[in-house]
Amino acid sequence: MTTCMECGLPMRLTKEEALEMSCSGTHFIEDGMTLTPVTGKGLRLGNPSKVIQCEYGKGVEIGNFCDIYKAMIGSYTKIKRFVEIQENVEIGKFCKIMSFVFIPTGVRIGNYCFIGPGTLFLNDRYPAAVGQWEISLTEVEDNVSIGGGAVILPGVKIGKGSLIGAGSVVTKSIPPSVIAYGNPCKVVRPI
Ligand SMILES: CC(C)(COP(=O)(O)OP(=O)(O)OC[C@H]1O[C@@H](n2cnc3c(N)ncnc32)[C@H](O)[C@@H]1OP(=O)(O)O)[C@@H](O)C(=O)NCCC(=O)NCCS
Repeated sequence: MTTCMECGLPMRLTKEEALEMSCSGTHFIEDGMTLTPVTGKGLRLGNPSKVIQCEYGKGVEIGNFCDIYKAMIGSYTKIKRFVEIQENVEIGKFCKIMSFVFIPTGVRIGNYCFIGPGTLFLNDRYPAAVGQWEISLTEVEDNVSIGGGAVILPGVKIGKGSLIGAGSVVTKSIPPSVIAYGNPCKVVRPI
């Protein structure tokens, strides 16, 4: 099939055509030897990133070498290079997700959040290679900033407007409007 049954556009698009399209079906950007799948409208997608079955708003920007699957990304959020975002993750509007961030299933991030480079969210408190695994939900409220290299353990909530220091290990929930850092991450002062 060379044209899409849903929107009638060719299945293979240029990046410019993909930016304009508003189809929820999967199309492909042809770029040299690679074919990058894209859906939706207004996406600026690096190469060779994969964005599969995601829902996203206007003006979302995704850098090179990202892998994003079945996630929701709000309008004007920017995702830098080498980011993995897994199924059912929700990210709000106007966020900035820096390079090398890992966001697994079970994480919800609000609007206007900054997630520093190399931040690691974890979702299973007692992981094992085989057998059952259990996801604990992690929530990052609006206007939170997380410094580079932080590790966020499963099931915590980071309150609105708080700032987590670089390299912190967040083992428990953090209230709103505070600066917190360290391993384990502790509240240091209000903002
Ligand atoms: C948490 C942070 C905001 C604190 O800044 P600050 O209030 O100016 O703190 P100071 O630099 O005055 O440090 C105060 C004390 O906390 C310690 N400290 C500061 N940041 C720390 C951190 N992330 N982890 C552990 N200790 C930290 C300092 O060593 C200092 O200790 P001391 O009193 O024993 O000397 C800042 O250090 C930080 O981590 N910012 C995030 C930076 C970042 O990742 N940016 C990403 C951009 S890409």
